[in-house]
Amino acid sequence: MRIDIISIFPEYFAPLDVSLIGKARERGTLDVRLHQLRDWANDVHRTVDDTPYGGGPGMVMKPEPWGAAIDSLLADGSPRMVVPTPSGRPFTQELAQELAAEEWLLFCCGRYEGIDSRVMAEYGSRLRVDEVSIGDYVLAGGEVAVLVMAEAIGRLLPGVLGNACSVVDDSFAPGAMQNLLEGPVFTKPPVWRSHEVPPVLMSGNHGKVARWRRDEALRRTLSVRPELLASLDPATLDKHDRRLLDELSFRVGSEDVAN
Ligand code: ADE
Repeated sequence: MRIDIISIFPEYFAPLDVSLIGKARERGTLDVRLHQLRDWANDVHRTVDDTPYGGGPGMVMKPEPWGAAIDSLLADGSPRMVVPTPSGRPFTQELAQELAAEEWLLFCCGRYEGIDSRVMAEYGSRLRVDEVSIGDYVLAGGEVAVLVMAEAIGRLLPGVLGNACSVVDDSFAPGAMQNLLEGPVFTKPPVWRSHEVPPVLMSGNHGKVARWRRDEALRRTLSVRPELLASLDPATLDKHDRRLLDELSFRVGSEDVAN
């Protein structure tokens, strides 16, 4: 996969040199190219922002440098364009998977109050353009959001994770654990500062371990993200799940029929 990132702070992306993503880049699974937006500004001060039409605080990124920067990349073809912004559609595991299936992504990092909207309109007629938010909080710019998205996408690329199964078990991965958060995990030693590992995990009984993990996932989801449980398809709940949720006083959705 090729990822181009345009930003006024390309040095923000140094973390992409390390760990799994760094290794994927070394191996050539991932080709990350950073671009300084100011290289396409056409005045001596390399200005990329100006005051907003209609007034108000802050500055807006000018369309001309963005147009010149993006046009220069389009000589190579048509990437899918992603613009991080708190007013975008939510970045989810599902969107990460969709983006991981693309051959080429172009991230355009806004700063200040954002990028002049005509840039998204201009390229929206030629490319797939998504404005994407990584959460309901406001960062100082899109760079950190792109680091988050690049890591979430990069680890889904074939051969990037050591164990392909870790992707399947993830919280939010589609499949058996869809919409459930993963429960707690443990490693050796069996007792640490008098905290014990739950004995079932050392029992060697795979069925019991799987059941315990699912119970813990249900408990944790109910405790910290009850809205995820509420949106769960009741058909994915077996009778053990229903009994546990009943004990925890959680009412399963209305089309629920006992089984
Ligand atoms: N830029 C500023 N805040 C952001 C957010 N929450 N998500 C994506 N980009 C952003």
